[in-house]
Amino acid sequence: MEIIKEMVKVPFYCVRASNRHVWTSIYQRKWTRLFKTSAVGDMTIQCMNDLGPIYGKISQIGINSLPPKCDKLIKKTGLDRIYDDWPALKFEEIQKILDKEFPGWKQSIRIEPKPIGVASMAQVHVVTDLEGKRWAMKFVKPMAKKRIQETLKALNEVISLSKVAGNAPIVQKFFKEWEDFSTSLRKEIRLDLEKKNIKKIQAKLKKQKGQVIKIPEVNDALCTPDILTIEFFEGIPFKELLQKKQQLSDKVKDKLAQHVLKEFLVQIFEWGLFHGDPHAGNLILLEDGSIGLFDWGLTGEFSDKDRRYISSVLKSILTLDFAMLVDALMDIAKEEEVEVSQEQVEHELRKVLTLIKKAREEGKKVKLHVLINACFKAADKLGIPIPRGLFTMAKTLLTIEGLATGISPKASFTRAAAPFMLKAANPSFKDLWKMTKNLPKLYRKPA
Ligand SMILES: Nc1ncnc2c1ncn2[C@@H]1O[C@H](COP(=O)(O)OP(=O)(O)O)[C@@H](O)[C@H]1O
Ligand SMILES: [Mg+2]
Repeated sequence: MEIIKEMVKVPFYCVRASNRHVWTSIYQRKWTRLFKTSAVGDMTIQCMNDLGPIYGKISQIGINSLPPKCDKLIKKTGLDRIYDDWPALKFEEIQKILDKEFPGWKQSIRIEPKPIGVASMAQVHVVTDLEGKRWAMKFVKPMAKKRIQETLKALNEVISLSKVAGNAPIVQKFFKEWEDFSTSLRKEIRLDLEKKNIKKIQAKLKKQKGQVIKIPEVNDALCTPDILTIEFFEGIPFKELLQKKQQLSDKVKDKLAQHVLKEFLVQIFEWGLFHGDPHAGNLILLEDGSIGLFDWGLTGEFSDKDRRYISSVLKSILTLDFAMLVDALMDIAKEEEVEVSQEQVEHELRKVLTLIKKAREEGKKVKLHVLINACFKAADKLGIPIPRGLFTMAKTLLTIEGLATGISPKASFTRAAAPFMLKAANPSFKDLWKMTKNLPKLYRKPA
């Protein structure tokens, strides 16, 4: 039974990781390392690295959900390394992978031994080809891939056993969420899928003029399901911009924030194909002022059904029409074959109304994506399955809003998003009339 093996491995790997930490500290005569608070982070990350990316993700979620007062402690113990500072594969192992995948690679490329990025599943090195062009080569860590497969197998065993246990909606919802989670993990370790995503988005980009966001070129000859080689972007990582390590004028920052907002909104609402995780770690400001965007493992894509759902929810949000919103959710429930009563839907959606009211009483603006999220949450509570594309959209909207205001506090998500959402809502003339009356209410401070 896989689950028994997994349950044995967890304590074994934890003990092994702490032992290794103790022994290397003694061996390297770095005694003090043993008593530093950062030893907690060192041991945890080593342990998670052995246990694999699923445990890594769970600990990320755990650390993320700690209250803000724990931030200092997280930094002090070095637990914040769990986000992007994982142990790297040794260079010999990288060379071994290259020997296997591209025999004779030494004649055509030169690889830099020090990785430029290491995460739980993959690590990236810079390589130079015979023409002197530099590429970013991403490798899936073989052990991480193996551990994902083992853990998923073990957990699937538990899931299939518990499927016998019951059919209650909450159990069903859990199974659905589990399936989504494991599918996205399986996709993330397949770099051939990331390549496919890049090519798909590039095809859309070609038709668009004047885009500031740049998608990396792919080096097909140096790609396999476990290796992805893309154009290397040299510039200032957005992370540094956000940490204010780089001095840019306010004017440049404003422009940058506006471009980021606008172009991600184009991806979402016009192309219906968008980056699923556009956080600062995946963006880089290039010398010519354009923005390099990589890490296309997760994307969101709208089906026709998604577009219809978005249109109906947005229409009612933009017109602030409560009855219309109730109808929209009732229609979605019907299409998804979920039985809910009008009263139940009204009850859940009242929370959305309270959100608007509360914000206005406090003199704040209600953010459109907050309202969208609240509607999805209400649907979720009612057991109405929200298609994956819409959830990814909600997450991406939230991320780009944080990104843009991080670059320039003046950036207004609502101002940038309103025209896109209006178009996506596809309103009738009557709706439009209502919107012109009601839209300002969403943002206006009370008198
Ligand atoms: N094309 C690229 N140009 C420059 N740096 C890159 C490129 N691709 C990846 N990197 C660096 O490697 C890191 C990890 O790559 P990424 O594709 O984001 O993988 P992960 O899925 O592990 O986050 C990035 O944060 C970035 O620092
Ligand atoms: Mg990344």
